[in-house]
Amino acid sequence: MAREAAGHPGQPQEPSRAIALFSSSRRNGNTGKLIDHIASELDIEVIDLGELRISNYDYDHRNRDDDFEPLMRRLLEFDPLIFASPVYWYSVAAPMKTFLDRLSDYLDLPDLLAEGRRLRGKRAYIACTSICTEAPRSFIDTFVDTFEYLGMQYGGIAHVDCSHEYSPAAGTAESAALIERIRGLPEK
Ligand SMILES: Cc1cc2nc3c(=O)[nH]c(=O)nc-3n(C[C@H](O)[C@H](O)[C@H](O)COP(=O)(O)O)c2cc1C
Repeated sequence: MAREAAGHPGQPQEPSRAIALFSSSRRNGNTGKLIDHIASELDIEVIDLGELRISNYDYDHRNRDDDFEPLMRRLLEFDPLIFASPVYWYSVAAPMKTFLDRLSDYLDLPDLLAEGRRLRGKRAYIACTSICTEAPRSFIDTFVDTFEYLGMQYGGIAHVDCSHEYSPAAGTAESAALIERIRGLPEK
């Protein structure tokens, strides 16, 4: 059945179109299991940064032919965005940090500025695992301060304590709350 246009009087609102961006040193580890659970519940795609060729930020932008700009063009078609990473040394996994660094391309390069502004207003969520009861403030702030700088709306976090490995039961409450929140979002 064709989906109705958003906001049409008397018609159901379109659900939002979410996508997940994932980074970990192992695809099927704790964070991979968490994001796969969230993605299967929401029926959304998971993009694994480990499968892409994205080089470090370059002040001279000699890396514009790598996979970063095609990835951004794809991400910009979605809202909300879910960022999934384990906590590695109080921060995000290295490829996720590289991705965040490369967002500077969209602030530096005149031909990308308008595209970069499309991040404004997008809703952003975090899915993460660690071996503590909560994600460290430094980890959360890396994302949340970046979202704020870019004008994105932070919607919340699902953190799973994997000190005894990931178990779906351990992740249920937090990931269920995140899934429900995202399911309930109207399309933008
Ligand atoms: C290099 C490395 C650094 C880590 N640093 C932290 C940390 O700072 N705080 C924490 O709670 N757990 C830390 N951990 C534990 C991981 O966050 C935890 O095992 C996580 O669930 C791993 O997810 P993964 O299977 O996706 O890699 C670290 C693990 C590794 C391998």
